[in-house]
Amino acid sequence: MKKLKAVILGYGGRGSIYGDYAADLHPEALEIVAIADPNKKRQNFAAEKHKADNPKIYNDWKEIAAQPKMADFAVIATQDAMHLEQALAMIEKGYHLLLEKPMATTPEDCKKIVEAAEKKGVKIIVCHVLRFTKFWYTIKEILDRGEIGDVVSVSHFENVGNLHQAHSFVRGSWKSAAESSPMILAKSCHDTDMLQWLIGKECKKVQSFGSLTHFCKENQPAGAPHRCSDGCPHAETCVYNAQKVYLDDSLWYKGYSFGKMTNEEILEELKTSRYGVCVYDAGNDVVDHQVVNMEFEGGITASFSMNGFNEGGRYIHIFGTKGELHAVMGEATIDVYSFETREHTLYELAKIGEHINAGHGGGDIGIMDDAMKYFNDEPASKGICSARTSYISHLIAFAAEESRLTGKVIDLEEYSKNLL
Ligand SMILES: NC(=O)c1ccc[n+]([C@@H]2O[C@H](COP(=O)([O-])OP(=O)(O)OC[C@H]3O[C@@H](n4cnc5c(N)ncnc54)[C@H](O)[C@@H]3O)[C@@H](O)[C@H]2O)c1
Repeated sequence: MKKLKAVILGYGGRGSIYGDYAADLHPEALEIVAIADPNKKRQNFAAEKHKADNPKIYNDWKEIAAQPKMADFAVIATQDAMHLEQALAMIEKGYHLLLEKPMATTPEDCKKIVEAAEKKGVKIIVCHVLRFTKFWYTIKEILDRGEIGDVVSVSHFENVGNLHQAHSFVRGSWKSAAESSPMILAKSCHDTDMLQWLIGKECKKVQSFGSLTHFCKENQPAGAPHRCSDGCPHAETCVYNAQKVYLDDSLWYKGYSFGKMTNEEILEELKTSRYGVCVYDAGNDVVDHQVVNMEFEGGITASFSMNGFNEGGRYIHIFGTKGELHAVMGEATIDVYSFETREHTLYELAKIGEHINAGHGGGDIGIMDDAMKYFNDEPASKGICSARTSYISHLIAFAAEESRLTGKVIDLEEYSKNLL
């Protein structure tokens, strides 16, 4: 297989994960030729990490976009609101894209990206990393083999985790729908994609309810200041105390957001950083719980619940005409019950899969393995899909938000026809 070249736009949490593939895992398969990020710490980190490739480092993605095409594909790993402009510019230059989800923040903008890519003939992989995990891939294969017959109904949960909710959707980059995107898109376009992929049929109708009820000002404990560092009287007991959460090595939030900073540096940074703010006074507006009901072609129903009041993790229950499947992602087990034999078959993925403990259940590596094949025009796994397929599963999430806000059941065909 030909060694590929890539440029990375945005070397934050996600951009650096994709960069790791070239730097640490498969330098024989991928070379990073340029990286753009205005953050000097990230630039230095990138230069050190990729010193074998010696990529050019830029302050702004536009400096790469302004030059003649220099790589096979571009990784777009900046914040959600930047994706549209970057995707259109890089498509125009003829780059294939590894595009972080969400593709863009409105259905119209997602459509523009898909249409531009189709017109130019470039490929886009939207980073729906779960498709590339052993866990979800195995479920897909079980369904495709017909082990539980025809799917009739699905019940799916995304337990965001209370600390993840606080970190990303109360304090972090996705706290405001206007600045990033509605939480059902930002967090759960993975899940609408997964449901569409597993069921293998078109989603017809969507209905949703949800709101922000806990992480708001009314629940701020008496006497709590705006910042945890300002002498909060609840510091000892509050599970969201930033000065504890971000010093805890057992939680991923520390490394993801503060890199290699020392504890002293983190404490200093928390005095001004968004992550140092009280979770009950953070000015956030996205939901902390939302449910979505869906009807797919052939009357298949699916119900989905996303909320932040749990330890975290996804689980799914799929009901078929010949059996049922119950799977818990964190435990890496899939239990299939057959109506014919009245017996359970337990798939233990740690035994049959690799990368199970890596990021996103192995999906962060799995997607790159497949990207190398797909962008090389080699056969890839069934996790790969067209940009249009990703766009349609994004539409389910956008329609859910529309339903939540309007109280209406959304007919997806009509919804999509009415987009500009
Ligand atoms: N696939 C997944 O499961 C998954 C998980 C988390 C986040 N995401 C998505 O990935 C994207 C990035 O998220 P993140 O957590 O890495 O964010 P991040 O904030 O850590 O990284 C974004 C980077 O973009 C850089 N940037 C800002 N302006 C720039 C410019 N003009 N040119 C180049 N770079 C610029 C920032 O300095 C930052 O380092 C988001 O769209 C997010 O929704 C996807």
